[in-house]
Amino acid sequence: MLKDRRILLGITGGIAAYKAAELSRRLVEAGAEVQVVMTRAACAFISPMTLQAVSGRAVRSELMDPEAEAGMGHIELARWPDAVLVAPASAHFLARVAHGLADDLLTTLCLATDKPMFLAPAMNRLMWTNPATQSNVSRLRERGIRLLGPGVGAQACGETGVGRMLGPLELIQGLAGTLTGDHVLEGNRVLVTAGPTREPLDPVRFMTNRSSGKMGFAVAQAAAAMGAQVTLVSGPVALDTPANVERIDVETAAEMQAAVVPRAGDAHIFIATAAVSDYRPLVAGDRKIKKSADRLQLELVRNPDILAEVAALPSGPFCVGFAAETHDLEAYARAKLTAKGLDMIAANAVGNGLAFDRDQNTLHLFWPGGDEILPTAAKTELASVLMRRVAERFHAQN
Ligand code: CTP
Repeated sequence: MLKDRRILLGITGGIAAYKAAELSRRLVEAGAEVQVVMTRAACAFISPMTLQAVSGRAVRSELMDPEAEAGMGHIELARWPDAVLVAPASAHFLARVAHGLADDLLTTLCLATDKPMFLAPAMNRLMWTNPATQSNVSRLRERGIRLLGPGVGAQACGETGVGRMLGPLELIQGLAGTLTGDHVLEGNRVLVTAGPTREPLDPVRFMTNRSSGKMGFAVAQAAAAMGAQVTLVSGPVALDTPANVERIDVETAAEMQAAVVPRAGDAHIFIATAAVSDYRPLVAGDRKIKKSADRLQLELVRNPDILAEVAALPSGPFCVGFAAETHDLEAYARAKLTAKGLDMIAANAVGNGLAFDRDQNTLHLFWPGGDEILPTAAKTELASVLMRRVAERFHAQN
């Protein structure tokens, strides 16, 4: 994936530095040449010796190092890579780069290089959401520096939230997408819905479905790897945000509609993978429903059809729907394609342990005038093929 690419891997001081050894190894396995540069704080978390062993090159860390400078000076080192990846990038490091400081070797290299730069933030959730960090992040993005992550999940400090460093494979995928020039969606905005919705019955109960969000997250990741600017509107799922993807979390179908519709006019492509609840309870009281009679009747009302609403927008985006069917897959998929006025629909069989919450899937694509079966594969692979077809048909129409 990264054959003969030169990657300057910067490591800064944070507990996620321990993951940098695995990352370095995976980069080498992907064919890259890796030169590690560590800050002093990083050396307190993981030994340069470990990084030297996994990268196969002597690690650099000091700016004022006559011996190393005699070998490859820092300006030469800044010119050497095809890309700079800093993982983990601490809050302090983001601040230093955002402000153009050059007070150690790594920040100096960041200032002296004109190669694509990728930063993988890793920090406590409150440090990430702090307005100081967010304003540094905006500055970095404005300068074309790409941020990979951070993801959501359990943190080393015992808290849970945004701020976790993405895993090595996600980082490599984010990097490879840009470096390999497979950027057929560069300059296009892609909006994706994913996961289930939750429709409250009372303050403690809700209606939902078995969707895991895996397909939608894989689609968002594939679109981002193709250079698109991706916004992912997701129901409640337990998944990390893919690299280079903006994520908006929602719970109900109404919240999903409110997040999607205002953004849809601006999007070039809309992909609705979410398993949106078709109905919601008519009343969701603010008091818990108490048990009384043997039977309880719930009255449900229809939810808005987000996909149909977006597809009906005048000069709206290229619209792709998903159809999950237990039977008569082709007939239902074709009917939905026409009824909702879609550009493409991806149908998959569900039930009997198929599709939902699985890592593999099979898709049957239909578009006006054609169809194609994408054979069983990992959802990540399937999403790449699907996005390729979407890009082809989108470009053919525009
Ligand atoms: N969809 C949506 N908003 C809804 C319902 C569905 O955006 N309220 C989208 C889904 O994301 C998916 C497609 O529409 O892309 C599914 O079509 P739909 O006809 O709603 O499928 P089902 O809900 O499975 O319909 P049915 O139950 O009638 O089979």
